[in-house]
Amino acid sequence: MREQYTHHVSRFSQRSFNLTSIKRIAINTGGGDAPGLNAVIRAVVLAALNHGYEVVGIRDGYNGLLIPEKFPKGGLVPLDRDKVRGITHLGGTIIGTTNRGNPLRYPVQQPDGSYVEVDRSDELVAAFADNGIDALIAVGGDGSMEIAHALWEKGLRVVGVPKTIDNDLEHTVVTFGFDTAVFFASECIDRLHSTAQSHQRVMVIEVMGRYAGWIALHAGVASSADAILIPEIPYDINRVAEKVLDRERNGRHFSMVVVAEGARPVNGDYVVQAKEVGRAKRLGGIGDQVAAQLQELTGKEARCVVLGHLLRGGKPTSADRLLALRFGAAAVRAIEAGQTDVMVALDPPNVRYVPLVEATRRMKTVPLDGDTILTARDLGTSLGD
Ligand code: F6P
Repeated sequence: MREQYTHHVSRFSQRSFNLTSIKRIAINTGGGDAPGLNAVIRAVVLAALNHGYEVVGIRDGYNGLLIPEKFPKGGLVPLDRDKVRGITHLGGTIIGTTNRGNPLRYPVQQPDGSYVEVDRSDELVAAFADNGIDALIAVGGDGSMEIAHALWEKGLRVVGVPKTIDNDLEHTVVTFGFDTAVFFASECIDRLHSTAQSHQRVMVIEVMGRYAGWIALHAGVASSADAILIPEIPYDINRVAEKVLDRERNGRHFSMVVVAEGARPVNGDYVVQAKEVGRAKRLGGIGDQVAAQLQELTGKEARCVVLGHLLRGGKPTSADRLLALRFGAAAVRAIEAGQTDVMVALDPPNVRYVPLVEATRRMKTVPLDGDTILTARDLGTSLGD
């Protein structure tokens, strides 16, 4: 007799999943891409094949199942050994991703041009069953983990793998993609350092990270920035200007200021570049504001460079490759062990599994009493406060 999924709590979905004989696993990548996604895919496929499972990739988040007509070659990609050869070091994701297709709040255009958000999760769960998929490995950030948990509530067997350059997911010491972003941001800051020095300018470098300052802080400290502005510490621009002028008096005629895209002044708000239907607000633009204000306050020429998506593209560092491979293999082991509704997390020296709902309960921001912040202060870096 087929054992049915006992944790099936959906009032809506009529489907259920066979726990005892998993044959087919799906993997998807959701949200913004991050270096290491292909390494996870490779590890999942090879580990799954070793355990006797078949693997399919869902194209572009869940779109391969939700809008299959968009994919002439099919919304599902069979993933075998050949498909994942030589991809560990490649940026991007071979199965595509999207940060617009949240099945819980899917934007549907109305005849008058406006949009309404529709919950398509029942339809999605049905599509999994129709395609003979017994379990899902969902690779993504907080939004993806929230979706994965909701699908579990509707009867799907899911294991999450945390990804984001922002490093803002709770319960894992780090997400893959972060190390590459910090490495590349540091490289860029180093390059900008010499040109700032030659021209005696203030160079403002805006980095991604959404509402968390991890990338700015780590890259800024690693590359000896003079000021680092992060969302966790609202800044006073006068304090930053004082730092620049202080350096000027000490014969240092240039300054490097790293600004997280989510940084904001005391009593001020985030700078939002765009609000688009069906996706999170797009931050960006604070770097230009900081540069203009510093130029005004110090009388020094100030320029802004926005690193943006450069931090997400390209090949993963070896640390991110290893972490991604470990996460992918651990996700398959979780399925093999009968785990569901969990996220793989790094808890050095090993990986462990945490309930998905725990992982998304709150955003992981930079702790103000953490030693990286203390290090920045000890080194004389201005944090704008
Ligand atoms: O979450 C990763 C991230 O790169 C953030 O740092 C950034 O705010 C956002 O995604 C940008 O997303 P998009 O590429 O969709 O504009």
